[in-house]
This record gives sequence, C-alpha cells and structure tokens, in this order.
Amino acid sequence: MTVKKTILMLPGDGIGPEVITQTRRLIDWLNTNRDVNFTVEEDLVGGCSYDAHGVPLTDAAMAKAQAADAVLLGAVGGPQYDGLPFDVRPEAGLLRLRKEMELFANLRPAVVFPALADHSSLKREVVEGLDIMIVRELTGGVYFGEPRGIETLPDGQRRGINTQVYTTSEIHRVAAVAFDLARKRGNLVHSVEKMNVMESGRLWREEVTALHQKSYQDVTLAHMLADNCAMQLVRNPKQFDVIVTDNLFGDMLSDEAAMLTGSLGMLPSASLGQADGQGRRKALYEPVHGSAPDIAGQNLANPIATILSFAMMLRYSFDLAEPASVVEDSVQDVLNQGLRTGDIMGEGMTQVGADGMGDAIIAAMEKYAARI
Ligand code: IPM
Ligand code: MG
Repeated sequence: MTVKKTILMLPGDGIGPEVITQTRRLIDWLNTNRDVNFTVEEDLVGGCSYDAHGVPLTDAAMAKAQAADAVLLGAVGGPQYDGLPFDVRPEAGLLRLRKEMELFANLRPAVVFPALADHSSLKREVVEGLDIMIVRELTGGVYFGEPRGIETLPDGQRRGINTQVYTTSEIHRVAAVAFDLARKRGNLVHSVEKMNVMESGRLWREEVTALHQKSYQDVTLAHMLADNCAMQLVRNPKQFDVIVTDNLFGDMLSDEAAMLTGSLGMLPSASLGQADGQGRRKALYEPVHGSAPDIAGQNLANPIATILSFAMMLRYSFDLAEPASVVEDSVQDVLNQGLRTGDIMGEGMTQVGADGMGDAIIAAMEKYAARI
C-alpha cells in the first residue's frame, strides 16, 4: 500500500536552504523510485520570515506545521538579527513551533561512524563505536518559564530574570520516552540534573525515580549531576546509553556530544509530541547544527545531519524502518568512500560540496535500493 504523507519543509536561514535542498533530492528519489507518495510543502521560518512578514513564523506557517504529518527544518538565525527583541528573533519561530506543537521530547542521537572515528577531537579508542541517545526536554524549563524579562530597579540597575520550572507530568512524559527508547537499546538511562543546588533538579530526580519504580524497573536507572555528566561525556562517553535531561542542560550536553562524533554537521534530531489514539505523534526533524552564516551560500555545508534527520522521520513518523536504514547505510557508504565536506575533511580524503555529498548519497541509495 502506498504510504501517503505530507511533509512541511522550513529551510530557514544561513545554510538551512542548502542542506534542505540536498535532503529534498532524497525525498524526490523515493517518490520516483519507491511506493511512497510524499507531498512536500514549503514555508518560511526564522530571519527570512521576519524579513518577509515581520515575524519569525506566520500563523499560516504554524497552521501548516500542525496539519503536516511531519516537519523538516533547516536552521534559523544570523548575526543581522542579533539586535531584535526576543519575540521576533529567528529563534522565536523555532521555539513557537516546539511549544505549540507540544514537542516535548527531543531525541539527539550521537553516533560515531567508523570512517570518522579519527576525526573526533578525542582519541579513537574513546569514541569508536559510540552510540548514545540524548533525550532533551524541549517545551519547559528555563526556555519558557515565567517570570522572565529584563527590568530596571529603583536604583537604576537592570535585572535579568529567567525561571527554571518543571512539573511532575512534564518530567514523567519525557522520562517515559527515555525509558521506552532504552528498552530497545542498551537498557540504561542516565537522568541528569543539578539536584545539589536546584529544587527543580531535586523534583526531577524524585519524579524520574518514582516513574522508574512504578513502570520501568527492568531498565537500569542512574542519576548524574549535569556538570559531572559534561565531564564524563569527554572522559568516557561509552558509559552512556540514553541520557534524559532538561531543556537547557540538554541544549549544552547535546552540542558537546555532537563533537564526539567529529562534527556538529553530523548530528540529526527528532522532536516528538505525545502519541494520539492511533499512536501518531506531532513531529519536527532538524539538524542539531545552526545556520552557520560564515559558510552559507557557498556550497560548503554538510547536509548529512539533515539527511539523517529525514531518516529519523522515516523511522519515527512513517514507520519506514528499512528505508530509514538504507538512508543511514548510504551515508555510511559515502563516508567509507572517503568523501568529505569541509567540516569533516581529513588527510587523503576527497572534499566535496553540499551538492557533491548529495550526489554521492543518492548514488549509494541506488546501490541499496533492492532492500526497499
Ligand atoms: C538547538 C538550538 C536552539 C536551542 C536555538 C536555535 C534556539 O541551539 O536546537 O539546540 O537553544 O534550543
Ligand atoms: Mg543548541
């Protein structure tokens, strides 16, 4: 039976359009060669939307995202928008998507491809074979907590305020995602907070423990303070399987984990909402890297993180596990051939642009096509 899905593409700013263009080629390839029917819509998010409409995400684009089967986003932001108020900054478009679609679980896998094990800034033996999954809470915590703002005090000083806040249900639903994932992987969850200084961290630890006691005793649960986790990630990253943590710690730890793999240009992500009665979740897929304005528009970007994000879409939103692994194997194949974008370039390798990388991945897809 033909799989029919609507995908909303939001290329965004900087290198976003380039990495999305290469991913679009894979979607077109699947439409032409396989029994799928992906309808692709496109709209603006971030600075480009602000330039065109005065807001980083229009209500119309938001409605399209709510209606789509899945959203694929490139990147948002750029230095020309740095002076804007928070509510119209490019990032506000992305945060609105996450909040209004209730995408509370952000999955950020950090996998070291064998061909890139020498490219990490850590020693090969520390990262070789690494496969960890960071589950970052995405719709709560200090990103959205109230009160927030900058105020002027009677003595003329200014005070900036943000609020770190979590409730039981917010903690339980994201921890449940982490435990469920762990069951299909190494069966180990590290829950990460700062319970030694923060009440919200203490609650996090207590509630994760309570959920574990109630429903997930078969999974091994360990607790770790966030600063120690940052250190352990570079000391001995292979001790981890699934890490579950809040919005802000997850933001930082996932950038750190990305570098274990050799480049931020390699890391995909999936942001998922609660499953409905039919098991369908709202979902947005995006590379972990940003808009990289310094290399934008020069065909230098690495499209792999976005292509791997699309593979996650195939797996998590469309239940197309085999096509997803064909995409992943195609990426692996191209790396094994020695093709590299600038960010992962190494001695004796062949440097290609974003489009050259796209060409090679499509060619590898042809090679594995018989599997799907
Ligand atoms: C990320 C990014 C975003 C975040 C920015 C662009 C708002 O750093 O997805 O990790 O802080 O969540
Ligand atoms: Mg980040």
